[in-house]
Amino acid sequence: MTYFDNLSSGNPTGSDLEKSMCIGVVEVDRIHAELAGLIERLDEVPQALTSSESVASLLWELRQVLTAEFDTEEQLMRSSEMTLEQIDDHVLEHNMLLTLVIDASIGSLSHDPMTARQLYQSIRNHVLEHTMKHDSDLGQ
Ligand SMILES: [Fe+2]
Repeated sequence: MTYFDNLSSGNPTGSDLEKSMCIGVVEVDRIHAELAGLIERLDEVPQALTSSESVASLLWELRQVLTAEFDTEEQLMRSSEMTLEQIDDHVLEHNMLLTLVIDASIGSLSHDPMTARQLYQSIRNHVLEHTMKHDSDLGQ
């Protein structure tokens, strides 16, 4: 059984974070797996500051993957039976998540940058909460 067979059967083989982000929609779960991998890479350099080249580069990749994820989900929502209010709530949270990552990038230029560990915990918590609160609706 391949990795993506496992994903489509709701049985991902990746990390706990990746498993927690699996909603049972293959195109979303592929991007969630990529996103989980990037978030976990932040925790591989816990003491690195957001001003460092490695963290700045990860933040840039996170923005690209989040944008792709949101585009995919929003396309799915528009072709679903979700109400406009549900779609608006979900899209609003996407914008907030993207702002969180952009703010971290901007914050990296300040005199008080975060550590990669702090950033990892913050992004991980926000993304998990979002997955449970909103993305899980896409898998129903
Ligand atoms: Fe979402």
